[in-house]
Amino acid sequence: MTAPADRPVDWPKVRLHVVTGKGGTGKSTVAAALALALASSGRNVLLCEVEGRQGIARMFDVDPLPYEERRIAKGAPDEDGRAGQVHALHIDPESALLEYLAMYYKLGRAGKALDRFGAIDFATTVAPGVRDVLLTGKVYEAVQRPRRSDRRSEAITYDAVVLDAPPTGRICQFLGVNSELAGLAKVGPIKSQADKVMELLRSPRTAVHLVTILEEMPVQETSDGIAELRAAGLPVGGIVVNLVRPQALSPAALAQVREEAVDPTTVTSDLSRARVDVDAALVESLLAEAREHAVRRHLEDEQRELVAAEGLPTYELPRIAGGIDQGALLELAQLLRNQGMA
Ligand SMILES: Nc1ncnc2c1ncn2[C@@H]1O[C@H](COP(=O)(O)OP(=O)(O)OP(=O)(O)O)[C@@H](O)[C@H]1O
Ligand SMILES: [Mg+2]
Repeated sequence: MTAPADRPVDWPKVRLHVVTGKGGTGKSTVAAALALALASSGRNVLLCEVEGRQGIARMFDVDPLPYEERRIAKGAPDEDGRAGQVHALHIDPESALLEYLAMYYKLGRAGKALDRFGAIDFATTVAPGVRDVLLTGKVYEAVQRPRRSDRRSEAITYDAVVLDAPPTGRICQFLGVNSELAGLAKVGPIKSQADKVMELLRSPRTAVHLVTILEEMPVQETSDGIAELRAAGLPVGGIVVNLVRPQALSPAALAQVREEAVDPTTVTSDLSRARVDVDAALVESLLAEAREHAVRRHLEDEQRELVAAEGLPTYELPRIAGGIDQGALLELAQLLRNQGMA
């Protein structure tokens, strides 16, 4: 299953992988699998979430994550069996603001006092653009963190950061391109923070990947998302096609089933010869199921062509029976590695 050791990967220069896509298509799952895939050969990876949902903790079956980097898993091992580490971070705007104040104004305890007076509302409700800058600012800090030559620092440095980002409909706004920073934030430290974050986001060190499933609406949203990202000058990465149906039947067999060209009596006698005891009703319902599968596969193939027409590196992941746990995530990570995404 493993690819050759010297196989090229598609994103060698990328330090920040942003994962977006239509809601519910598997952004969080793909972000986690990508983090595991990148955490190979001893590499350190940080997986971040910003929407307050604790999806990472659920997937990895650990306690809710605090605003603190936690080691949560070993990555997918490379050809020599060497894995890396995945850390996770749950970024909320309040904690990010307090940290920001402490860092930039050396307010320390005064910053915490702000919380009591409700000044935190500034970050969460009054100025949504500022809220996003605080979230992406923390991601920026993790990506830019200096290597550990400075011995005083306990902070871990990362080879890559993966961001489980908001859905396609909000991604450009979240990444700060369309948002006019409000009032106070137009000048001063928040503005210069926003500028630095923007510089990273628009650089070749960032890739925004899109997750989709092979249905009309998500594929349309993917293509709209790509156009919007491009217009905003953000680097579009690859497309991850998730929840793909099994590909066991040949195109000819699928066409035959779809066109109802399969004769039930032949099926019944074939099965009887194989000593499978069936009656006509069972064969009918088996054929109906096969037809349904064939029709859906046909629709999927149409959507797959539209995805291919985008001309981007594309990766496919199957639906994992039994749902997503850490074992399933490692399986998906290995599939991403085999396809060259990491
Ligand atoms: N390849 C897969 N195989 C099986 N189940 C999957 C797969 N990918 C995702 N799922 C399941 O589909 C559901 C949605 O996935 P996920 O939460 O990753 O999507 P999302 O895009 O992050 O959703 P949201 O927009 O709500 O954040 C989850 O229950 C997840 O476990
Ligand atoms: Mg999610």
